[in-house]
Amino acid sequence: MTDRSNGYDLIADRFLATRSDIGVEVVRDWARALPLGSSILDIGCGSGWPVATTLAEAGHRLAGIDPSPTLLAAFRRAVPDADTAFEAAEDSRFFGRRFDGAVAVGLLFLLPEAAQAAQAAQAALIARVGRALHPGGGFLFTAPRIAATWRDMLTGRVSRSLGEGAYRALLAGAGFHPPRIIADTGGNDWFTAVAGSTDRA
Ligand SMILES: C[S@@+](CC[C@H](N)C(=O)[O-])C[C@H]1O[C@@H](n2cnc3c(N)ncnc32)[C@H](O)[C@@H]1O
Repeated sequence: MTDRSNGYDLIADRFLATRSDIGVEVVRDWARALPLGSSILDIGCGSGWPVATTLAEAGHRLAGIDPSPTLLAAFRRAVPDADTAFEAAEDSRFFGRRFDGAVAVGLLFLLPEAAQAAQAAQAALIARVGRALHPGGGFLFTAPRIAATWRDMLTGRVSRSLGEGAYRALLAGAGFHPPRIIADTGGNDWFTAVAGSTDRA
């Protein structure tokens, strides 16, 4: 079977052992700003700790998608009430639904290694999230605000951040209001954007 997890299923045990809770305060603040009981899609949800568990503790309803069977099994244990799909972000059926919020933590820059394909895949994902959110819905994702290419420490695969300017342009094109960018205590950048009020095709 083809691995669609960009190498993550293979190193899932090491990822589980080393995932830290740095940045959880950003997730908690974002969760507090949403109405209680909001539906949130966690794209590339991993094990669910600490992002989805924090959102669930804040009183929200989770749906998680991830193409790593090992990490999705851990997610199901961590957030047993969540809807889940063993699918990739590129073609998950969950994008046929509408949500109040979406998170993509540690995902965008993993999408295909080749530069052009990475740009296209990240653009397509941001557009897909824009269509899946109710007007006023929130999108929270991580990516370095400086455009950069590096090797993922666990998988050894190439990761690419398109950089703040490109993410701002893609978010605007997908109907989002200008994002805020927050740096967490570990120096990771979090983009938070609100979907516009007009319906998009
Ligand atoms: C760095 S981990 C982050 C996991 C989780 N969001 C967290 O914050 O702990 C990246 C996750 O993205 C998932 N992933 C990789 N490629 C994906 C894809 N094409 N669609 C959806 N998820 C993907 C991996 O399986 C892994 O769970």
